[in-house]
Amino acid sequence: MSENILDNVSDGNISIAYRPHKFNEVVGQFVALKLLKSALINDRLPRSMVLYGPSGVGKTTLARLVAAWYVCENREHDDVCGVCSMCCAVQDGTISDILEFDAASNTSIEDIREILDQCDYAPQYSSQKVFIIDEAHMLSRNAIAALLKTLEEAPNHVRFILATTEIEKIPDAIRSRCLSIALHDVSRLQMCDYFKHLCIEKNIKIEDGAITLLASLSNGSMREAISILNQAVLLANGSVVDVALLHSIMSYASNEIIDQLVGFIADGKFVQVFETISALDENISILSVLDQVMENVQKKCHEPLNKEKYLKILIDLNRLKQDAAKISAFDAMITVGLTEIAYQVHSV
Ligand SMILES: Nc1ncnc2c1ncn2[C@@H]1O[C@H](COP(=O)(O)OP(=O)(O)OP(=O)(O)O)[C@@H](O)[C@H]1O
Ligand SMILES: [Mg+2]
Ligand SMILES: [Zn+2]
Repeated sequence: MSENILDNVSDGNISIAYRPHKFNEVVGQFVALKLLKSALINDRLPRSMVLYGPSGVGKTTLARLVAAWYVCENREHDDVCGVCSMCCAVQDGTISDILEFDAASNTSIEDIREILDQCDYAPQYSSQKVFIIDEAHMLSRNAIAALLKTLEEAPNHVRFILATTEIEKIPDAIRSRCLSIALHDVSRLQMCDYFKHLCIEKNIKIEDGAITLLASLSNGSMREAISILNQAVLLANGSVVDVALLHSIMSYASNEIIDQLVGFIADGKFVQVFETISALDENISILSVLDQVMENVQKKCHEPLNKEKYLKILIDLNRLKQDAAKISAFDAMITVGLTEIAYQVHSV
């Protein structure tokens, strides 16, 4: 097992171990990468920009890499070296030319003023001073006003990189002064590829099916995928990480149970549907069972055998999911709903 992973589990900051130290280590995000690299190579990085997109896909990572570009001691043609003392200092957040501000935990106007005041001082190590404002949608109204003023008046040696999961909450006055760069979910294929290589490199024994599942469980978030993988490696304790282990971590039902459940639904065996759900381990989330059932039925819709029947069931499942999302006591509703769908099949 990789010592690296275990070392980092103990300090609770697991995914940091894998934060890309170079642009070329970033998974996916082709457009954003192309845009940023081209701007950096041609020395045309806009004064201020906002990186936006879902959680855990590389916003903070890219912001730090842009910052590293200006201080890296061994820059390559289109990338930073990732290993020099400056690159390391950027990753550790210990370099005075790069100021990171987390708007989620520093909400007062004094907090941001303290940072913005630093604009007036020239950079120490390079031509630029880079301000990274993370979770920028959390800035208070006063903080936004202060930032706006700074964006307009900041000297040439200052670059602002805002990062947010909620671009629509960034006021137009700020957005119109920033280049907006979208980041996207990392695709399953890109994740599979990345984790296959990572597991070989780190000597992690893992089934191919588990890698595919990992990519699908993490819903496009690299951070989520790394966190699940780390839990799995710890639990596997040296043996192979398999699909069943991932299911247990995610509090998912096993494939066998889902197959059985879908079989009961399709056969109209509503009593068995109810019994199967009632017998599930109490850690298993019924909402994820519904998702698993839907995924399973969806696959069956592509098979010629009983296609019509499964399509009809899928429509009912979709409706059940939509209804369940509207209420808080969805557990009971899903159980009853699945039983009802089976009952309808039974009555046809
Ligand atoms: N595109 C990516 N390629 C490789 N690793 C990534 C990528 N995106 C995220 N990661 C991994 O996930 C961790 C978190 O990434 P990062 O902090 O950049 O996400 P984020 O988009 O800023 O998320 P949040 O919105 O939650 O702040 C990184 O340390 C890295 O290990
Ligand atoms: Mg972030
Ligand atoms: Zn470097």
